[in-house]
Amino acid sequence: MGILQKHQILERNVTLLAIFAFLVVTIGGIVQIAPLFWLENTIEEVEGMRPYSPLELTGRDIYVREGCYTCHSQMIRPMRDEVERYGHYSLAAESQYDHPFQWGSKRTGPDLARVGGRYSDDWHVDHLRNPQSVVPESIMPKYGFLEDRMIDGEHVQDLLKTHRMVGVPYTDEMIENAAADFMVQIDPYGDYDAMVERYPGAQVRNFDRAPGVSEMDALVAYLQMLGTLVDFSTFTPVASR
Ligand code: HEC
Repeated sequence: MGILQKHQILERNVTLLAIFAFLVVTIGGIVQIAPLFWLENTIEEVEGMRPYSPLELTGRDIYVREGCYTCHSQMIRPMRDEVERYGHYSLAAESQYDHPFQWGSKRTGPDLARVGGRYSDDWHVDHLRNPQSVVPESIMPKYGFLEDRMIDGEHVQDLLKTHRMVGVPYTDEMIENAAADFMVQIDPYGDYDAMVERYPGAQVRNFDRAPGVSEMDALVAYLQMLGTLVDFSTFTPVASR
């Protein structure tokens, strides 16, 4: 009996087919899933990644609240057209402190995973106030109201604590200083050294150039950080090390 005839026995007996299908799926599942339990960590560690600063984390919450993810992804796929347009493909480690992650599944606008540093703060503020003022054909909504919503970091300590509960390694020192770190990030004349030491690479500026901390400051601080933490001129993937 040839192999095809033998296979016919399986195809014509629904019980046998179910048993063999179950076996195949089980073996396939074990092969795929079991190794994950022996790997120390399924996310490769990457230099430069750190928990978000209190101001960045607040900006990220505003990003989520406003539903920016419904039009913007934050995941550059390793295809040539994407890499040429947006930069190095996204690493798992770059989303490791995102709860929930912002990969997105819809690109009405461009991917934002590496938008940090691509435009000036003024460009972002103008663009968020009125996207058509800088990109005439834009269909992005206006977010100028963020400038009028002042925030004082009253709850930012709880926000950090919540993220620590789900696994973000905020230290006691970070949590203790959350409110002060939040305020000092928009104050270039302030005493921000300790904050930058806690959050290396944190950018200190008055992002919207207006007095006080507004939601606009927080959102622009977040956007300007995106994709800037890992230095891709020195990064080598583990596989090619
Ligand atoms: C209805 C869909 C939509 C929503 C919602 C939306 N955007 Fe956009 N966004 C776009 C489109 C389309 C563009 C491209 C045209 C432009 O630059 O305005 C864009 C462009 C951008 C750019 C410039 C990206 C680049 O590389 O040029 C940034 C930054 C941005 N959006 C941020 C945001 C933020 C932050 C929010 C939430 C507060 C948001 N967007 C919400 C559609 C959207």
